[in-house]
Amino acid sequence: MIRKYVYGEPFETEAVVVSIPSETAKPEFGTITTEGGFCYTYHLADKDRVYGLGENVRGINKRGFEYISNCTDQSKHMEDTKSLYGAHNFLVIDGKETFGLFFDYPSKMTFDVAYRTKDHLVVTADKADLALYVITGENPLDIIKQFRKVIGRSYIPPKFAFGYGQSRWGYKTKEDFRKIVKEHRTKNVPLDMIYMDIDYMEDYKDFTLNQEEFSDFEEFVAEMKEQKIHLVPIIDAGVKIEKGYDVYEEGIEKGYFCKKEDGKEFIATVWPGETHFPDFLNPKAREWFGDKYKILLDMGIDGFWNDMNEPAIFHTPEGLERAKKVMEEFIEDPNKQMWFMTMHQLGQLSNNPQDYSNFYHEVNGKKVCHAQVHNLFGYNMTRAAGEAFERIRPEERVLMFSRSSYVGMHRYGGIWMGDNLSWWSHLLMNLKMLPSLNMVGILYTGADLGGFGADTSRDLLLRWLALGVFTPLMRNHSALGTREQEFYQFEDSKDFASVISVRYRLVPYLYSEYMKAALNDDMLFKPLAFVYPEDEIAVETEDQMMLGNEVMITPIYTQNAEGRMVYLPENMMFVKFLADGTIHQERMEKGIHYIKVALNEVPLFIRENKCIPVGEKAEYIDAVNDNNLTLIGYEGAEYLLYSDDGIHKNYDTKENYRTLK
Ligand code: GLC
Repeated sequence: MIRKYVYGEPFETEAVVVSIPSETAKPEFGTITTEGGFCYTYHLADKDRVYGLGENVRGINKRGFEYISNCTDQSKHMEDTKSLYGAHNFLVIDGKETFGLFFDYPSKMTFDVAYRTKDHLVVTADKADLALYVITGENPLDIIKQFRKVIGRSYIPPKFAFGYGQSRWGYKTKEDFRKIVKEHRTKNVPLDMIYMDIDYMEDYKDFTLNQEEFSDFEEFVAEMKEQKIHLVPIIDAGVKIEKGYDVYEEGIEKGYFCKKEDGKEFIATVWPGETHFPDFLNPKAREWFGDKYKILLDMGIDGFWNDMNEPAIFHTPEGLERAKKVMEEFIEDPNKQMWFMTMHQLGQLSNNPQDYSNFYHEVNGKKVCHAQVHNLFGYNMTRAAGEAFERIRPEERVLMFSRSSYVGMHRYGGIWMGDNLSWWSHLLMNLKMLPSLNMVGILYTGADLGGFGADTSRDLLLRWLALGVFTPLMRNHSALGTREQEFYQFEDSKDFASVISVRYRLVPYLYSEYMKAALNDDMLFKPLAFVYPEDEIAVETEDQMMLGNEVMITPIYTQNAEGRMVYLPENMMFVKFLADGTIHQERMEKGIHYIKVALNEVPLFIRENKCIPVGEKAEYIDAVNDNNLTLIGYEGAEYLLYSDDGIHKNYDTKENYRTLK
């Protein structure tokens, strides 16, 4: 049961796509005040658990900390980081009373989850203009499914997007890309995608190509396709200010860029230098920008990643003025305040709230200050692309994922988990984000494997890849200036071939489970707590995850570990994909076990009396054969396989399902 409560005059975010009449009575759970802002308070019982909030640091049970929905270009995902790139205001309280809450509010919102006061959930916003949805149901999963139903079906990528992708900020030339293909193909490491970071463009201008390298881009895309490689270019939110650059000129002429109070276009410096932001909240501007993807689609491109769309701001002319003043005051009188305060103020040049208050969107003929709708920007950039793909290529799926997101964006694309670091703790953090993201419909997701910032190590990369084997988006990506982390930068490339090959053997299962989750508004990754709610140990286990309906994954996330402790909430089959291509299977009893897993192996568990299909080795998705599958797990079990051509959109047909036994 979903009830909607409306306060003030909410901005229509279009997160919810089903019309729900609003209630006049007060919500059943919690108390609300609307004087001087919005405040929701709920008294948590001692053992209540709080799930949700999508992309955030810390545990699956969010209790005990404060999180702020405020889409941020955040390169430090620390334990005390309160905002990352997305805003996912959905929570499920599970315990004495079990219910879900969705605060549909497009600006900054604070979630104090028993942080200031140990038993209070307090949700606050500056303005009391929002829609609150209260969802009741049998259990958390039931509540989540009801929520997912009203926010619309999750994005479904083309099947090739379930392959392995290599990426790095810094690939520039055709030779860079050819080398990657050659290394993978000659050393039998599977590969389907190579990502093109900002250097493929001319001066970081969206929808342009560096002419020195890519004047014959269409041929190059075809050359890669012949080798079964999809090139996936990045698109950034800011449009470079440059006379004669058509996207800039058109945007100015049509008035499609965000403007300041005085009617002049707002200027923000990002990778290309000074840019303007397209007004993605204006449907016409969205259509205009979306149509630009056609330029690359027409050249054979079939996937994109949208970046810097919080939107990230390095600095603005106004910000530089502010900084100048701070610096002048400091030079004039260095003792007026401590030097680190000055440094701190200068650090506020990027992503400064003052800048976000300085520009406007045009929504239904009305000017809306960006700060009031900040969390909708990335969502609507990706929506611009998604809506365009529907117009331009209605029959076929296009790969799309974004950095920033809000609830509702899951209909148009997935996300990657942003600029993590090559830290063991981030491997675990990224694992824990999976179910929270699934709760808000974001199924196509994954982390930068090996870590984006900082230098990776061979063992960290191998262990991270062994987790990536299971995440729909499986991409090795790293930052300019860090240690290179393509598999061939390390010794014994065979170990990488072993781990990545497991992904391809599991694609029939992973794809099938992904599709079932998307088509049934289900989660692909569930916390153990959702499946074994009566089992106290399972409920607290956050470093293992249920994947689909048959599997439990137990990634290794500790340096130098030769294995790990695992908890089995029921009897299970321990499955280990070994380096020689064979599969070790061993029945294990419910309880605690220590499992040994070498760096070139991938472990998983199959639930009692269930089985999963595995395919033969393949070096790209096209070569995965759904008609040559073996079942592993418990004898006599059956598996319902979903399978389609991976290209078109005829999902809802019975022909796509068959029972394997
Ligand atoms: C941002 C993205 C990162 C990308 C870089 C350069 O930091 O998050 O993935 O490599 O920009 O485009």
